[in-house]
Amino acid sequence: MGKKNRRRIKITGTGFYVPDKVLTNFDLEKIVDTTDEWIVARTGIKERRIASEDKAVSDLAIEASWITLKNAGLKVEDIDLIIMATSTPDTIFPSTACWVQKGLGADHIPAFDISAGCTGFLYGMILAEGLILSGINKRILLIGGELLTKVTNWKDRNTCVLFGDAAGAVILEESDDGSGMLSYYWKADGNLGNLLFQPAGGSRIPATAQSVAQDLHCLQMKGNEVFKHAVKRMGEAALVALKKAGLTREEVDYLIPHQANIRIIEATGRRLNLPPEKVYSNIHKYGNVSVATIPIALHELNEAGKFKKDTIIVMDAFGAGFTWAAVVYQW
Ligand code: ACO
Repeated sequence: MGKKNRRRIKITGTGFYVPDKVLTNFDLEKIVDTTDEWIVARTGIKERRIASEDKAVSDLAIEASWITLKNAGLKVEDIDLIIMATSTPDTIFPSTACWVQKGLGADHIPAFDISAGCTGFLYGMILAEGLILSGINKRILLIGGELLTKVTNWKDRNTCVLFGDAAGAVILEESDDGSGMLSYYWKADGNLGNLLFQPAGGSRIPATAQSVAQDLHCLQMKGNEVFKHAVKRMGEAALVALKKAGLTREEVDYLIPHQANIRIIEATGRRLNLPPEKVYSNIHKYGNVSVATIPIALHELNEAGKFKKDTIIVMDAFGAGFTWAAVVYQW
């Protein structure tokens, strides 16, 4: 593992931002017919953060970017590309990455969004590997940010208890010591797109009084179906990526699964035969913040000093599209 003669990219900075406002399960009991007990038992979520009305996802992403740059000891001038993964952009166009670029004053570099649901952060890492190892870019700011509470249907107890707002980021550059991204697996299946989607607001169903009245601008999800696919695909993705890295399940130190539901997280851990202490979860604090879950987990583990030299991490995600991916990483 980590053969020094193979070129890799590595993470040289982590950080995240969540809004201050906390919405607990008890708060939700006052909004829809639900209970703290149901939400905790079925999802593992106790509370989530909610952005204020005047905020857009770029505001969260800009905060996360400043924190990440500071943690990496870098200035804006040191990065040469911004990739923003999000499903809740400020505007359909321009991209949220351009709003972030404006906020950071990063006028010297290109910026664009990727849309791959909750898998967007891992898609971004894979893309960054290609860009850096081909010599196109040297140091990329990759952000995963989501302001899901603005596309949440607060009358639908099936979905409104699940989501929160957050942004996480990393700095990616070429590794000089053999550590970094060892392998990846990525896949999509557009046949299942309408099991988790925001029906209106694009060119299929543009905004009309009717689309608004029917709540078609809110996220819709067939939770049961998504659940089954997520467990199957995340397990598969992690195993394929591990095989590509030439590693066994026993060699994994941390699994960082996308934080959608504690039962999906635990099932993925079992599929990899991992003891619970190797399966990271913070869903109780933030709920499902989609594309931001993995960079937040990376930062929390990094800051807690859990990553030592050669620590093997498997990042694993599933989301709208459907899309799914896994990345095996050696710290
Ligand atoms: N409070 C109380 N009862 C509820 C609530 C609620 N908030 N939500 C649903 N129920 C009820 C349902 O109405 C249903 O009642 P019924 O049997 O009388 O019809 C019952 O609870 C069971 O509902 P299910 O949908 O079968 O519950 P399930 O155990 O599947 O849990 C959940 C639902 C939490 C949504 C689960 O399916 C899930 O987590 N799915 C995957 C979600 C996911 O991963 N999404 C995101 C992936 S991609 C991304 O992150 C954007």
